[in-house]
Amino acid sequence: MRRSLWFGLVAMTYLLAVSAPLVAASDCVTCHEKVTPNIVKDFMSGKMGQSGLDCSVCHGKDHKSAEDAPRAQLPTEETCKPCHGTQHQQYMDGKHAAGWVAMSAMPKTGFQPHAYIQGLKGCGGCHKVGVRDATARADSRYGSPCDSCHTRHKFSREEALRPEACRTCHMGFDHPQWEMWSSSKHGVIYLTEGDTGRAPKCQTCHMDEGNHRVMTSWGFLALRLPEDDAEWMGYRATILKGLHVLDPDGNPTARLDVVKAGKVARLSKEEWQAERDKMLAICSRCHSGSYARAQLANADAMIKEADQLMAGAIEIVADLYSRGILKPEEGKAAYPDLLTFYDAMSPVEQTLYVMFLEHRMRAFQGAFHMNPDYVTWYGLAEMKRDLVEIREEAARMVAEAARH
Ligand code: HEC
Ligand code: HEC
Ligand code: HEC
Ligand code: HEC
Ligand code: HEC
Ligand code: HEC
Ligand code: HEC
Ligand code: HEC
Repeated sequence: MRRSLWFGLVAMTYLLAVSAPLVAASDCVTCHEKVTPNIVKDFMSGKMGQSGLDCSVCHGKDHKSAEDAPRAQLPTEETCKPCHGTQHQQYMDGKHAAGWVAMSAMPKTGFQPHAYIQGLKGCGGCHKVGVRDATARADSRYGSPCDSCHTRHKFSREEALRPEACRTCHMGFDHPQWEMWSSSKHGVIYLTEGDTGRAPKCQTCHMDEGNHRVMTSWGFLALRLPEDDAEWMGYRATILKGLHVLDPDGNPTARLDVVKAGKVARLSKEEWQAERDKMLAICSRCHSGSYARAQLANADAMIKEADQLMAGAIEIVADLYSRGILKPEEGKAAYPDLLTFYDAMSPVEQTLYVMFLEHRMRAFQGAFHMNPDYVTWYGLAEMKRDLVEIREEAARMVAEAARH
């Protein structure tokens, strides 16, 4: 009897000791254990919760009750900066930080529904990985970049190191890196063996040593300047016209400033080569340098193949503009605009945009992610089909115009 009472007391003291928080629970926690218990649980399961940090370090202290919840501050990347200056700086120097700016710069973004952009249900839901300025934040409360890969409120390094953390955004129509990588030899080894480190995952190649500055040589659009290969530069000039970065006469437009501000392309050989050298050094940890260089050079060559087809298609549609069969929007040059995406007004331009954004992307992204199937059947083969369709449709339009 005495013995079990003694045992009970010891057990209770022990339980109290392990369950007692490092510091007394704040008002935030006490109330939120009832209001949002899973948020408190997640936070306490992560390192920040376990270090004794309080909710108020990110949300401020202005909100104190159920009635004044709108006074809770929602964190931005600036909130994390005082304690995580290194990651913040790397992020700011990289491509992710420009995600919101790049999205906003598209010619039709301003015409999309509020819920779709600011409300994060469409483009905005992924592009919130970028910095939203004060105007954007005033327009819509939610959306912070730093919980994109280590999700709130666990904020786990381990979670962010899994390739699945990138999957929500790097998948689908115009950037299926998840699909390409996971069905490549690299991904299949990961899926077969687990995270043993024998084959690379997204973070191995793009966030080496935890560096938050993601940046590649070619970028999303695969347009480097300058270009030594004159034939290739000819194709690229046509694509740049199709992006309205060059006007139909080949002169730079205001969109070139957007390219610079959004770090859309590397604009010097040195900048391009620096990223390439970093990547080659990573491949060379497992492969021979010669093997890795050959792999990447062949992927570069696939961009050129794709660009040749793309330029051909753009010129066919441009010809419809110069004949006056297709008419530009007011104030715009008489040339197809690839960046209007699915808001393109004619079927022939719809085909052209899909050729550019879905099929050209796959033809080279697949090559960089060691996926011959994407390069072939989802990439080059589809581009050839698009070109046939565009040629046929243009001929039909020219014939029809001649009849009227
Ligand atoms: C007396 C209870 C109570 C206290 C104390 C309290 N909260 Fe809340 N809080 C709530 C309730 C209830 C909501 C949900 C309101 C709603 O349904 O949108 C909320 C919402 C929030 C939100 C979400 C706001 C939004 O716009 O979605 C945050 C963040 C938050 N609280 C943080 C805190 C922090 C930090 C503290 C301490 C400084 C704190 N809370 C203290 C009850 C409380
Ligand atoms: C390290 C910073 C950080 C800390 C500490 C933190 N949060 Fe948050 N919290 C965030 C971020 C980031 C968001 C997402 C904001 C957005 O979407 O704009 C968020 C959003 C929220 C929301 C609204 C979104 C939702 O999913 O309902 C609530 C409620 C909330 N936090 C409660 C809490 C509570 C309670 C604590 C303490 C247990 C806490 N937070 C601690 C960073 C933090
Ligand atoms: C007041 C300082 C402070 C602020 C503000 C802060 N953190 Fe932390 N953070 C810490 C501390 C302390 C740790 C734990 C370090 C350790 O134990 O290694 C940590 C750890 C982390 C980790 C690593 C967790 C792990 O599993 O290893 C991540 C990710 C993280 N913080 C993200 C964020 C983000 C995102 C924000 C902003 C929304 C933020 N932090 C704001 C202090 C802070
Ligand atoms: C919330 C969505 C989201 C998540 C999660 C995400 N990304 Fe991104 N990523 C983007 C967006 C959007 C862009 C384009 C940014 C821009 O427009 O400036 C991008 C661009 C990139 C780029 C392209 C750099 C360039 O040169 O153009 C790389 C590489 C990249 N991400 C790697 C990753 C990796 C690795 C992960 C996972 C650890 C990841 N991303 C997680 C949305 C995301
Ligand atoms: C599923 C998430 C997702 C959605 C939805 C999404 N994007 Fe993206 N976007 C990304 C990712 C990821 C990248 C980077 C891809 C890469 O580099 O291969 C990107 C790249 C871009 C880029 C190129 C940025 C650059 O500098 O190279 C622009 C511009 C862009 N997106 C605009 C938009 C617009 C406009 C919409 C809506 C019509 C949209 N995105 C919808 C995830 C998304
Ligand atoms: C073996 C290394 C490796 C792995 C693993 C890898 N990538 Fe890449 N990635 C590359 C290379 C190489 C490029 C092209 C770099 C250049 O521009 O020269 C690239 C380019 C990109 C780009 C820019 C557009 C494009 O596709 O060309 C994005 C975005 C990207 N990768 C995201 C991811 C994501 C997300 C994952 C995981 C699902 C991933 N990568 C896995 C090597 C890798
Ligand atoms: C594209 C995905 C992604 C985004 C966006 C992102 N992180 Fe991370 N974060 C990671 C990955 C991956 C790791 C693990 C890196 C490693 O240890 O190799 C990590 C680790 C961390 C750590 C732990 C570092 C350590 O060594 O323990 C902190 C702190 C952190 N991130 C803060 C931030 C902050 C602050 C932001 C916003 C400015 C941010 N992260 C945005 C992917 C991301
Ligand atoms: C962490 C080690 C590691 C890194 C880093 C790595 N690889 Fe691999 N790679 C492997 C392994 C292991 C295989 C499977 C070998 C095989 O196919 O027999 C593989 C397979 C490949 C294959 C497919 C070979 C085939 O026969 O199907 C290509 C292509 C390739 N890697 C290229 C690259 C390139 C390019 C880079 C850098 C952008 C890179 N790898 C980075 C480990 C790595």
